[in-house]
Amino acid sequence: MTKSYIWPLATRFAHVLLILFFSISYLLGDFEDLLNLHVAFGLALGVVLFFRVLWGFIGPEHSRFSDFNFSLNDLKEYMLNPFSKTKEYIGHNPASSWAIVSMFIIGFLTIISGLLVYGIQENHGIFAYLHNGFFRDMEFIEDIHELLSNLFVAIIAVHIAGSMIDKFVKKGDAIDSMISGYKKTEKKADIRLNIFQKLFAFIWIALSLFSLYYLIATNNIFVTNHNVKQDYAALHSDFVDECASCHIIYPPYLLPKKSWEVMMKDLENHFGDDASIDDMTNISILKFLEKNSAENSTHQAALGVLKSLKDKNDTIIAISKTPYWVELHKDIDKKVFKDERVKSVANCAACHIDFEKGMLENSLIKMPKGLK
Ligand code: HEC
Ligand code: HEC
Repeated sequence: MTKSYIWPLATRFAHVLLILFFSISYLLGDFEDLLNLHVAFGLALGVVLFFRVLWGFIGPEHSRFSDFNFSLNDLKEYMLNPFSKTKEYIGHNPASSWAIVSMFIIGFLTIISGLLVYGIQENHGIFAYLHNGFFRDMEFIEDIHELLSNLFVAIIAVHIAGSMIDKFVKKGDAIDSMISGYKKTEKKADIRLNIFQKLFAFIWIALSLFSLYYLIATNNIFVTNHNVKQDYAALHSDFVDECASCHIIYPPYLLPKKSWEVMMKDLENHFGDDASIDDMTNISILKFLEKNSAENSTHQAALGVLKSLKDKNDTIIAISKTPYWVELHKDIDKKVFKDERVKSVANCAACHIDFEKGMLENSLIKMPKGLK
């Protein structure tokens, strides 16, 4: 027995990047306010994967797909004998060959579906043009995205279990080889990268790291926000003069027409205050509110509010009373809304940056310091 160098540095380094980028992106997926980072890590993962696939065609021995073992018979033998010696595989054994290729395919599908969700629901990135379109109301794309990412996790779990069995049961050195690059072999079989492969490897790693920086630190086409800030005072000065004297401006898209009608009919008894105004102004403001109501908006929150009110018979006139709002904020401690910097559930702008400019963005959620 001797030792041979079989995994070049680039392959091992990319392996670590794949682990890191996937784990971080996956974990961040649960945090609405960190969505931009979730997307950045997911896309950077795509860059690493893309180069890894090319490496499968032009890389050195063992890293090439043509050296993978896709034989179903070998796979069967390998999987059915987890605890006994099977054939020796210098490069990838049949189980990891299949696992890797499935991860590539599912990885790309996860990333594409994620970009679709980001475009359709959030109006961000390269698929933002779909935000106003036919798929607008189809949450199944998000379900597919989640399903794919969980499938990815499932394959990783099998892959890790396999590596553990290899190490602790079969006393193999597959895991160690992914760190050191060396594996025990019958005879010396070191790989050597040619100059072209070395150059490719360098570009692979450099671009993967740079892409993460680029995606996080710049406003690029993959993350660009296509929602634009509104200047409500310029759009309708009476609306701002009359309706933002006691509280913040509520973007009209956050309530349906019906709610605005009911509210504007009874301004004398407006949440315990008298907010009444002359009829002319009232009609003009109501028109503006209706024209920009939830029904006429493509904003994700507008759709959410509408959907959550669909089965309600009584008209809700507080955004903070809509089931959509309640569901989104249910994990926030009640005490938070009593903090002097927040004061009320209705003070949306305390936690949502640029709320009064009509922006409601995951990346613009910022709770006052010390609050959770
Ligand atoms: C005289 C003061 C006053 C004026 C003027 C006023 N409001 Fe209000 N409004 C209130 C108060 C008080 C609340 C309750 C806030 C709270 O729950 O903390 C409220 C709540 C609201 C809410 C519900 C917020 C939530 O909880 O989701 C909306 C929407 C709203 N107002 C819209 C308007 C509009 C539109 C106008 C202009 C036609 C207007 N308000 C003018 C005092 C006023
Ligand atoms: C105390 C802070 C706080 C206040 C006040 C608050 N929110 Fe939020 N809001 C949050 C947090 C935190 C989240 C993210 C929840 C999560 O991660 O699931 C959120 C999420 C949302 C979302 C979904 C994410 C997005 O940006 O599209 C909407 C819509 C929203 N809030 C609307 C409102 C509106 C409208 C008001 C006022 C009536 C309001 N919020 C008041 C903290 C607040």
